[in-house]
Amino acid sequence: MIFAAILAGGIGSRMGGTDTPKQFLTLGNKPVIIHTIEKFVINSNIDKTIVLTPKNFINHTIHLIDEYIPNSEDIIVIEGGKTRNDTIMNSINHIEENFGIDDESIIITHDSVRPFVTHRIIEDNIDAAKKYGACDTVIPATDTIVESINGETIESIPVRDYYYQGQTPQSFNIKKLFNLINSLTQEESNILTDACKIFTLKDEDVHLVNGEVTNIKITYPYDLKLANTILDDIHD
Ligand code: CTP
Repeated sequence: MIFAAILAGGIGSRMGGTDTPKQFLTLGNKPVIIHTIEKFVINSNIDKTIVLTPKNFINHTIHLIDEYIPNSEDIIVIEGGKTRNDTIMNSINHIEENFGIDDESIIITHDSVRPFVTHRIIEDNIDAAKKYGACDTVIPATDTIVESINGETIESIPVRDYYYQGQTPQSFNIKKLFNLINSLTQEESNILTDACKIFTLKDEDVHLVNGEVTNIKITYPYDLKLANTILDDIHD
């Protein structure tokens, strides 16, 4: 089976100024999270879309889905976790308990606050996860990357051609991810802020999928303004 996990368990602290997490703020004529969920629900290759939110937003999310998305029977809303990785883990546990995990099943994990993910990116993720077992969506770094350990002086300036900016989706063979996560020591779990890092830490290949510059993550208030501009552009 092919699962999508829409990661919406965060509280959006860097957005500031509101008790409503950024994924529930309005972009154009509907909440950000609805734009994002729609991209996955219309993809006929995806069997189930699991949306993970803070506990106190589960009912709100169910109501929003009822309001905006017809044919929502393949959408499941459950509680996210304390960290982003915990949220991913909750989706995998839900899959294991309710559907079982076979050798072929894959999961496409995506930030709820990246509403401009494209059909092409999702398809490329499905293909790469099936073929290679793990993939990450990236775009080439545009700015020169400068490394500083002390925050005061430059340690090195790496060759930019070797650097990319990570976006989402990140997609995985579920069995592989599940086994790798369960093999981590407590120390390893503490440093793994990113699911792809688990694969690289264990010397497993993670294939690159080309992202898009428009596949932005809404993090700060400015990003929401930018998102409205991108939305207008798409509709022109
Ligand atoms: N996320 C999640 N579960 C968490 C933390 C984050 O599902 N425990 C999700 C967010 O909801 C978001 C995505 O991961 O869709 C990217 O994370 P980020 O932009 O850092 O979101 P927040 O953690 O909400 O933001 P902040 O760091 O500003 O608090």
